[in-house]
Amino acid sequence: MKSSKFFITALESSVDRSDFDCGVEPLNRYFTTQVGQDIKRRITSCFIATHSDGDIAGFYTLAAASIALKDLPSNLTKKLPRYPSVPAVRLGRLAVSVSYRGRGLGAALLADALTRSLQADIAAYAMLVNAKDETAAKFYEHHGFMATKEDPDILYLPLATAKQILSKQ
Ligand SMILES: CC(C)(COP(=O)(O)OP(=O)(O)OC[C@H]1O[C@@H](n2cnc3c(N)ncnc32)[C@H](O)[C@@H]1OP(=O)(O)O)[C@@H](O)C(=O)NCCC(=O)NCCS
Repeated sequence: MKSSKFFITALESSVDRSDFDCGVEPLNRYFTTQVGQDIKRRITSCFIATHSDGDIAGFYTLAAASIALKDLPSNLTKKLPRYPSVPAVRLGRLAVSVSYRGRGLGAALLADALTRSLQADIAAYAMLVNAKDETAAKFYEHHGFMATKEDPDILYLPLATAKQILSKQ
């Protein structure tokens, strides 16, 4: 996929990611040292945005998950089957390099993650995110995510709603 000067592709093991810096040390450490192992073990998939000059400008990870019906509001659960949980996609991590902040790349990576989830052959009801702090939670809320009843740091967006939002962009 292409977004102005950025190409979003699956991370390949040959890509040098040692210089990536999003300003958040645990996210840098995960991306530079651990994500390759997680991809090999099929724990996650990872997509990167590469700038036309070759820099890795951002990344996100996706994995299968589920969301308990008790964590969703009744206006949604009344339209869902009476299962204990429904399938979801977890956006485990999302980060933009400090050099590329504020140019719409975080929003473009999120839109790409939602589009991939909508296009996948395996159905999911919602995307889930774990916000690492209040600033991250505000970013996701800005893009339509809502806190689960169980934990305000875990937010969700029904993929049907995401489809409507994306169709207006
Ligand atoms: C959060 C992050 C991904 C945003 O990336 P970015 O490329 O700077 O953001 P964008 O330029 O795409 O911003 C898109 C929109 O989100 C808004 N936004 C960005 N950060 C926001 C925040 N923390 N709270 C509320 N809104 C925010 C922008 O104002 C913009 O709004 P607009 O489209 O209405 O003009 C980036 O700051 C980052 O990597 N932070 C460190 C890692 C992190 O916190 N990741 C998220 C949790 S794992």
